Amino acid sequence: MFLEEVERAAAASKELIRTRRVKVLSQFDADGITSAAILTKALVREDASFEVRILKQLTSDIIADLKPTEDDLLILSDFGSGQLDMLSEVIERTNVVILDHHEPRKFEHPNLIHVNPLLTGEAEMSASIVCYMFAKFLDHRNADLVDIAMIGAAADEADEKWEFKGFIKRVLDEGVAMGKISVVRGLRLYGRNTRPIYKSLAFTFDPFIPGISGSESQAIQFLSDLGIPVKNGTEWRTLKDLTMEEQQKMASAMIMERLRTEDDASDIFGDIHTLFGRPEELQDVREFGTLINACGRTGNHDIALRILLGDYSVMDRCWSVMEGYRATIAQGINWVRNNQKSIVSAPKATIIVARGSISEMVIGTVSTIVLSSGIIDPGKPVFGMAYTADGRIKVSGRVSKALKGINIKDIISAVAESLGGEGGGHVSAAGGLIPRDREADFIRIVGGVEEKGEMIGS
Ligand code: C5P
Repeated sequence: MFLEEVERAAAASKELIRTRRVKVLSQFDADGITSAAILTKALVREDASFEVRILKQLTSDIIADLKPTEDDLLILSDFGSGQLDMLSEVIERTNVVILDHHEPRKFEHPNLIHVNPLLTGEAEMSASIVCYMFAKFLDHRNADLVDIAMIGAAADEADEKWEFKGFIKRVLDEGVAMGKISVVRGLRLYGRNTRPIYKSLAFTFDPFIPGISGSESQAIQFLSDLGIPVKNGTEWRTLKDLTMEEQQKMASAMIMERLRTEDDASDIFGDIHTLFGRPEELQDVREFGTLINACGRTGNHDIALRILLGDYSVMDRCWSVMEGYRATIAQGINWVRNNQKSIVSAPKATIIVARGSISEMVIGTVSTIVLSSGIIDPGKPVFGMAYTADGRIKVSGRVSKALKGINIKDIISAVAESLGGEGGGHVSAAGGLIPRDREADFIRIVGGVEEKGEMIGS
């Protein structure tokens, strides 16, 4: 069903793509930027006249400014499905293609071509996979973009403990068959090709390794206790530099550490996806995705798109952006650890009231990490709140996938809208914006607290 829908959408779009002024709008995270890269390449192959814009979110203000004419074709990727009620006027004026995977709103119109796996009951998949399928139906040559599709899927955490299932697994198998990707089992540590091993250990929060996750000094001590040298001469060693014996020794020690708090430690292993035909630093699918995410979320969209499309002259710039982005996340996590008075433990949720102390750019990622690492109670949803530059509050909601029956998107959309804001997203990860003066109301409602009161220090 889903494949038939994508095929129909590509066939219906082909002529429009060739004859209209195509305007692509996509989201600023790794899934959105990989989607935009796939569409860029596909549009070049169609000889289309087009422009690409990367946006933080498709807000009502941006939609109001779109004002398309009937000569335009609007393609929205990695958003749009959740904003359909706000898009109706735009859709009246011109043709719109939406390639998305967020929870869709109900809306149909002859001008609208809407592809979303959730509309046909398909399991969740990333927008990059949706765009890849669309591109492949436009022209089979676009099958060579499978690596970009998988970078988006990995960055969007469409896997389970680094294993892809269902439809994405079929796309991955295609990539393997084409000789563009390889899959082997290994330790689930970030930065295997690029980061000093102690940094990989300290920066890994899932699987959480008690005492080591979040602490570079403890990670160095851990390696030294195992007799694993951290340097080779003056060069830091990365995970790929370790001998098989060293890797086994480290895996056994990680299992021991993990068993201190968990019954099962097998989740330290997962599938390692390696890309062929890319520089060594970009061969790990997850690292590449993290790099794109860091560049996209910090406003460096141009270099993110360029590196995905094979312009490696921007590589140094990308890595330095990533260093800064990582430091911002680490500061955010430490702030949560050290500011318990700003963490509201309400009956129905934990709320991180960061105000100006955590950047709106990373409040979602920090919320994900503190929830998965046990810094806060994993048995309840978490909502992160941070001030935005334009005087509002960015809210990010996350719930552990193991907690069934809580739809964070429904909660955030309903509460944000009731407070004069807007929101959307997925069942287990959603976001939104609310007016600055509704902070206490938001905390009270999502926390399940009856009375308004002084719940946090100010
Ligand atoms: O911004 P944050 O990381 O918290 O967003 C979580 C998810 O919710 C993302 O997939 C994002 O695209 C989505 N979202 C949305 N509508 C919003 C805000 C976030 O669909 N207004």
